[in-house]
Amino acid sequence: MSECSINGIEACVFDAYGTLFDVHSAVGNLSDEVGPRHAELSMLWRTKQLEYTWLRSLMRSHCDFWQVTSDALQYAMDATNINDKALHEKLMQAYLKLDAFAEVPAVLNLLKKAGIPTAILTNGSPMMIEAAVDSAGLNDVISHQLSVESVGIFKPDPQVYKLASDTLGIAPEKISFQSSNAWDAAGAAHFGFQVAWVNRYSQPVERLPGTPSAVISDLDGLLGVIGLC
Ligand code: LAC
Repeated sequence: MSECSINGIEACVFDAYGTLFDVHSAVGNLSDEVGPRHAELSMLWRTKQLEYTWLRSLMRSHCDFWQVTSDALQYAMDATNINDKALHEKLMQAYLKLDAFAEVPAVLNLLKKAGIPTAILTNGSPMMIEAAVDSAGLNDVISHQLSVESVGIFKPDPQVYKLASDTLGIAPEKISFQSSNAWDAAGAAHFGFQVAWVNRYSQPVERLPGTPSAVISDLDGLLGVIGLC
């Protein structure tokens, strides 16, 4: 992909988990307590969390992402034979204070200086995302925090992406959407956003409808593709 593959944008909208915040930092920061199966637990927790969002949306049985995250953690703990209620609670609390990826504050600051509004659009409940933004000290550099709870269905339902466009009052094609979750990038591109897929883990392309306009390895790459440096 060439530089400036995203053009004419009026706002930057970001996915939260995996894109701004490192979902594996919850278990990572407690790895000694979790024990030798910590990496497996973390991967399974994330995988189940996402599966449950998709399945609940298909089942028309929505509950908020806090509940989904707790259910997924319980499944992952059962699967790895970690039976510890107190640890479950501790990991859930850690999910409210995830590490932001290293480049995130500087990139958001540069967007703010350039006068480009920024928003988070996430499966996370308002409580979860407020806590994560607070804990990472990003309040001043995020203009809007948008949660799927406003529409009652998870990504990649088009209603979720429409929520961002409607709330910001900006046409989809004038929004640059960033996600490290390839399926979310596909869903957002299919909806009509210009999308930068943040391919942090060098994953293969998803064979889904919706093609990102740019592929970057971390958010530093965003500035180039939107023509800010
Ligand atoms: C989110 C999930 C997809 O933040 O990571 O919406």
